[in-house]
Amino acid sequence: MGVMRIGHVNLRVLDMDAALGHYIGVLGMSKTGEDEAGNIYLKAWDEWDRYSLILSPSDRAGMNHIAYKVEHDSDLDALRQRVEDYGIAVEEVPAGTLQYCGRAMKFNLPSGHEFYLYAQKEFAGKAVGVTNPDPWPQNRTGAAVHWLDHALLICELNPEKGINKVAENMDFMKKALDFYLAEQVMVGPDGDIPAAAWMFRSSTPHDIAFVGGEKMGFHHCAFFLDSWDDVLKAADIMAMNKVRIDVTPQRHGITRGYTIYFFDPSGNRNETFAGLGYLAQPDMPVITWTEQELGRGIFYHTGELVPSFTDVYT
Ligand SMILES: [Fe+2]
Repeated sequence: MGVMRIGHVNLRVLDMDAALGHYIGVLGMSKTGEDEAGNIYLKAWDEWDRYSLILSPSDRAGMNHIAYKVEHDSDLDALRQRVEDYGIAVEEVPAGTLQYCGRAMKFNLPSGHEFYLYAQKEFAGKAVGVTNPDPWPQNRTGAAVHWLDHALLICELNPEKGINKVAENMDFMKKALDFYLAEQVMVGPDGDIPAAAWMFRSSTPHDIAFVGGEKMGFHHCAFFLDSWDDVLKAADIMAMNKVRIDVTPQRHGITRGYTIYFFDPSGNRNETFAGLGYLAQPDMPVITWTEQELGRGIFYHTGELVPSFTDVYT
């Protein structure tokens, strides 16, 4: 089957105690491991693998790497070949290099972001178990996010210099990793320059997204919630905990998701994302947003881009 879903992101944080207060206290994740380097591993209650978030102590915020899980160990060899045939060097790293994971394939996307594929991660189980489970755990805390849903990466885009890493990533993800394009933003006088892309391997509108910017970076990672009510309550919890909110509850035109954007104490942007949007399928026609309607694509109600949303990222 190849790539199944997003596996984890590794974020750098400036103050680990403050970060844990955020990801555990506010978002409701649980600590499930740590290593000698001081990295902390966390999972959400509805996930079954050992972790979906690695927090690494650092003096600079941002993302170290992003990892996707493939279905079979043999997929790793097949995809390694595809990535190398595409012209990108791949390094195979032994089991345990990614803590609690089997062997992995490491490479950089055309945009420069460090990317891993792995097939095995230690099993932890959902908080509600799998035998006659409750719909949600009674002892959950904070917003009680279900799972890490997707990430959005900023890729260098400078059409005047002929640089478009969004387009390069789109092509690579499609040809080498069999991702499908759900939605795209096309800009320029002729509307023929890809400036953003939402791509999937699962059946949700996106497992990864790329947006053009001045330089490569990490825009946000999103955690899933069930409903609009849950998004509202999550915003309440953020306010109670003085979390810096970037954009209060809103609907996206793109993906149709219900959203809140906010920052962790280090300045890494997070999102809570609710609603499945629509069923994404390989034969679904690609949705295109024009430059004129980009604001409505991002923030459907106001139709206006918030400057911090496009300018601030780590
Ligand atoms: Fe998102």
